Amino acid sequence: MTSPEIANSKPSQESSNSKPSQEISNSRSNHLPSLWEGSGVGCFRVILIGYMGAGKTTVGRALAKELGLQFYDLDWYIENRRRKKVAQIFAELGEDGFRQIEHNMLHEVAEFENVVISCGGGTPCFFDNIDYMNQQGQVVYLRCSPEVLHGHLLMGKTERPLLKGKSPDELVAFIREQLSVREPFYNKARYQLDVTLMDNYDKIKITVEKLRELLGI
Ligand code: S3P
Repeated sequence: MTSPEIANSKPSQESSNSKPSQEISNSRSNHLPSLWEGSGVGCFRVILIGYMGAGKTTVGRALAKELGLQFYDLDWYIENRRRKKVAQIFAELGEDGFRQIEHNMLHEVAEFENVVISCGGGTPCFFDNIDYMNQQGQVVYLRCSPEVLHGHLLMGKTERPLLKGKSPDELVAFIREQLSVREPFYNKARYQLDVTLMDNYDKIKITVEKLRELLGI
C-alpha cells in the first residue's frame, strides 16, 4: 500500500463536465442563514472526512436531506464519472492511479455550491487535498475508535480494496496503524465530532443533530 503523503506532482485534468446525479432536493437551502460569513467560503459546503466505516456517507446523506442540500459521495461520484467501481480502478491503475483520479474529482465536487460532500477515508491524506478542502468548505472529521470502526467494517458490505483478504485480527491492527498515520491529516479539519459513542439505534439522528450544533446551522 502507498503510504499517505503530500505529492508534488500536478494532477492531470479530467475532461468531462457531466455531473452525476446523487442529488437531493435543495428547496430548503434557501432558508438557511448565510452560514459561512467570515469564513471566506461564501456558500454552504460541508465536507465530511474520517476513516473507513466512520459513517461519512450515511451521516452526510442524512444531513443533506435535513438541510435540503444536495449530497455527493466522492466515491460514488468517481464511479459515475469513470463508469467503474472503486475496486476495479484500484485493480487496473493501482492505488496511485486511484489517488490521482480521486484528487481530480475532489476538485470538481468541491466547486459545487450548497452541498454536503462525504469523502473517502484516504482523500484528505494525499496531495494537498486537506488544505484545499479547508479552503473550499467546512470540513468535519468524524472521529471514531478503532474498535468501533472494526465492528462497522466487519459488518459492511462495501468492497474496500485496502482491507481485502485481512482476517479480523489483522484488520484491527491495520486500522490502528493506518489511523495513526492518517490522524495528522484528519486533525487538520476545522471541526471534529467524535461519533464513537453514538453507536446506538438512534446514531444517525443524533450525529446529525450534533453536527448542526457544531456548525451552528
Ligand atoms: C479508502 C476509502 C474508501 C475508498 C477507497 C479507499 C481509503 O472510501 O475511497 O476504498 O483509503 O480509506 P470509504 O472511506 O467511504 O470506505
